[in-house]
Amino acid sequence: MRSFDRKAARAGWLLAFSLCLGAAAPVTDREGDAFLWGVSTSAYQVEGGYRQDGKGQSNWDVYTNDFQITKAVIGEKETGNIADNLYDRKQYLEDIQLMKHLGVNAYRFSIAWSRILPDGTGEANPAGIAHYRQFIDDLLANGIEPVVTIYHWDMPEKLAERGGWADPSSVDWFKRYAEVVFDAFGDRVKRFITVNEPFVELFMIEPSVHHILEGVADDRADALQVYAQQAVAAHHVLLASAQAIHLYRELGLKGEIGISLNFTPTIPADRSRIEDVEAASMMDALQNRWFLDAIFKGRYPQPLASLQGNLNPDFAPTAAELRFISENRPDFVGVNYYAPSYFKADPAAPLGADWAKADPGTLEAFNGPVVPDELYRLLMRLQSDYGNPIIYITENGAGFGGTDEDVVEGRVHDELRGRYLREHIAAALKARAAGARLRGYFVWSLLDNFEWTTGYSHRLGIVHVDFDTQLRLPKESFFEYQRLIASHPRG
Ligand code: BGC
Repeated sequence: MRSFDRKAARAGWLLAFSLCLGAAAPVTDREGDAFLWGVSTSAYQVEGGYRQDGKGQSNWDVYTNDFQITKAVIGEKETGNIADNLYDRKQYLEDIQLMKHLGVNAYRFSIAWSRILPDGTGEANPAGIAHYRQFIDDLLANGIEPVVTIYHWDMPEKLAERGGWADPSSVDWFKRYAEVVFDAFGDRVKRFITVNEPFVELFMIEPSVHHILEGVADDRADALQVYAQQAVAAHHVLLASAQAIHLYRELGLKGEIGISLNFTPTIPADRSRIEDVEAASMMDALQNRWFLDAIFKGRYPQPLASLQGNLNPDFAPTAAELRFISENRPDFVGVNYYAPSYFKADPAAPLGADWAKADPGTLEAFNGPVVPDELYRLLMRLQSDYGNPIIYITENGAGFGGTDEDVVEGRVHDELRGRYLREHIAAALKARAAGARLRGYFVWSLLDNFEWTTGYSHRLGIVHVDFDTQLRLPKESFFEYQRLIASHPRG
């Protein structure tokens, strides 16, 4: 075990958690820049080329190849060794043409830390840097702005072995990595994102992965212990992110730097039952406010923070650390929104809250119930409760499986995904019209790709990928998104 012990790994239920998870007004940016219409991916999920050009091993190379993580979940060994082959220039140049055809003006992707610093620290790898420089230049030459996530969960294995984010040195490791990234790409990238969804990485996926690797029984009682233990690692991520932001400003780089957080609005199963309302509020503190409050209010939400501290005395953020995090707050919040979650009170459940079914009649994607209005409410809440920060929706999308993904006579009629995008874009623009400082919207994802614990079985792309041939086939939702972008001039 790397960053937590065997006992903590018994949070198997987190796996279920992690798996379920008209005529338009012109959209112009109020402060000059064009509104960003984009698509999102991450390095491990699309690049392949896992041994190329001096790349070091990452934790995900090990999870998938050595531990065969997907075998336990979907019964097949699947890896990101080839994925969408996006490391290959011939391939990615074609995909850039697809993006142009789609009409996006931005592409959010992440850099593989292990390509830049194969061992995580120490000497930089010139070939890895040259690759991303070329890639960024190719995007720019095609009128597509690169939006670069510095860290999207693939950590160099050497660092993972030392404890990953649980090790306090991780703050310095990340700062050094960010320094190399800024030095190499800061002249041509205008928007960076420090980290992606620390909540999902540390509170959901990592415990699930370790639970699977350990093959231990599902024991929900341990979930609280897992949260308390992972709160330390999560605090290091926030410190690391703040260090990178501090450095970015110190270097005087001309652009914006943000953080992407996942948001899962929590809805009481029975809105008139005070116990359910309280259960949902506790889960809200964990799922939505944990990182936001630290960044924008300089404190972790109570009473959850005290509970974590009582369970794990190592979780003891100092006033100086919290001040550093809130003083070096991001220029923007990257909002990753897929679905809300529903809770009912259960005194025996961790945090007194148990998962409940969505309201009857709610359409379900495999990443959660489809409730576009919750996106609107979320953006308005950021406005009212967190000082109206600049927002980019850095991920939004859905997968429904079944006939929605069937290739029939050379077409994929993913009508449900198309509808999902239409309704969520409408909700986002409604919030913008009501004053939310929304500057961009990115679909997750451009391509079907490697989905962490479920491999290639869960398709989320607006472009179908045949993983045997690497052939791309734009789905109906691609054309729907194309129409939506075209009907909202950027100004
Ligand atoms: C992650 C992506 C993932 C997507 C869909 C987000 O939590 O950032 O890497 O593929 O959700 O599950």
